[in-house]
Amino acid sequence: MEKVQVKDAKGKLGVLTVGVGAVATTFIAGTLLARKGQGIPVGSLTQLGTMRLGKREENRFPKIKDAVPLANLDDIVFGGWDIFEDNAYEAARHAEVLTVEDLDKVKDELEAIQPMKAVFDQDFVKRLHGTWVKQAPTKWDLKELVRKDIQSFKEKNNCDRIVVIWCGSTEVYLPLSEVHNSLPALQKAMKEPNSDQISPSLIYAYAAVEEGVPFINGAPNTTVDFPAMWDLSAQTQTPICGKDFKTGQTMMKTVLSPMLKTRMLGLSGWFSTNILGNRDGEVLDDPGSFKTKEVSKLSVIDNILQPDLYPELYGNIYHKVRINYYPPRKDNKEGWDNIDIFGWLGYPMQLKVDFLCRDSILAAPLCLDLVLLSDLAKRAGFSGIQSWLSFYFKSPMHDNEHIAEHDLFIQSVKMKNTLRQIIGEETIDFMD
Ligand SMILES: NC(=O)c1ccc[n+]([C@@H]2O[C@H](COP(=O)([O-])OP(=O)(O)OC[C@H]3O[C@@H](n4cnc5c(N)ncnc54)[C@H](O)[C@@H]3O)[C@@H](O)[C@H]2O)c1
Repeated sequence: MEKVQVKDAKGKLGVLTVGVGAVATTFIAGTLLARKGQGIPVGSLTQLGTMRLGKREENRFPKIKDAVPLANLDDIVFGGWDIFEDNAYEAARHAEVLTVEDLDKVKDELEAIQPMKAVFDQDFVKRLHGTWVKQAPTKWDLKELVRKDIQSFKEKNNCDRIVVIWCGSTEVYLPLSEVHNSLPALQKAMKEPNSDQISPSLIYAYAAVEEGVPFINGAPNTTVDFPAMWDLSAQTQTPICGKDFKTGQTMMKTVLSPMLKTRMLGLSGWFSTNILGNRDGEVLDDPGSFKTKEVSKLSVIDNILQPDLYPELYGNIYHKVRINYYPPRKDNKEGWDNIDIFGWLGYPMQLKVDFLCRDSILAAPLCLDLVLLSDLAKRAGFSGIQSWLSFYFKSPMHDNEHIAEHDLFIQSVKMKNTLRQIIGEETIDFMD
């Protein structure tokens, strides 16, 4: 297998999070703790995972981080944007995910992360009232300001490369329109005053991709998953990926649905409810933001179960997703699933899943992996949609010719095979 030419991961890697909230601060603090040897980055494939290389009898199972030329955690410098002025320590205290004891071990470093002023539009996140916000006549001008932020962060921190990751709130549902279909149409709309088709997240993404900086979309917003941004990412040779981190309930769905299909068991209903009490829950309490999340969460089952191929098993599924804001639980979400299945001769059975999870604890390792793998993709000369990173997303991005792959284990095989290709090893089909 011919080796992909990968540039060295030399120098500093700047990681800019859009949104310095619960997920971002848990990711940042955890990475700082891990590199000091004061915490284990549980959930991170790049840090803890291994992969088989060669034939089974060769018995080669190196750690991914030893086999693949990833940036070292010590070389990461963090920064970000938020609509509130709180530094990362204050934001992490507000989020109440990690203990004060843990946060205090990296207090100085967290306090030094002062968010840059955000691009924000209240029409896109109704429940938040930002006070630390950029002003400019058009969205194009705002994009220019974000580009300058990226450039000056890079220079000030002496970074070799930058990655931008959206860890901001979920924006209201924005259906695709003509504006998103071509780059000239998008550019024109951005230059018009008050275009309501351009979300703040799109402005950050545009700035990053124009700078050749990989962009990761951790929320379900309309941000990089349309032709105009695909064209821009091809022009600037920039990797993009998204959308919506696959952490709790949807991860369970993408594990349980393949099990049902593999065994030809039927499904008649799947009722998913969530209670959570963090700021994300408050934002998702707004019907516009919930709609964006709902679309992302609903696509999974149909895609995996292929009802058109198996109408007698999956042709009549009642699928419902609910998210309820319930402040006492804070970041500790309860995701409860009632699953009505049927077996031999149609006899009904039920599965109940009650996942008492911690949202940001599940999302943080995904942020770390995505940042390191997107940086790798850039150094390997990849550009456009990184479908090999679908493993990490609820609603994996795909172009108009391909369908998304949702099955967690197929996604895992695809990702590891891409890593094997990058280092010049044979891909594995498990036949030997
Ligand atoms: N935790 C998970 O398991 C999970 C899974 C999938 C997706 N997500 C998504 O990740 C995102 C972050 O979640 P969270 O729990 O950290 O939420 P959070 O509310 O704690 O943090 C979001 C931050 O983004 C800021 N923000 C909002 N709009 C902004 C803008 N335009 N520019 C800059 N900052 C902005 C907010 O002020 C807030 O500090 C949400 O969209 C959430 O839906 C989380």
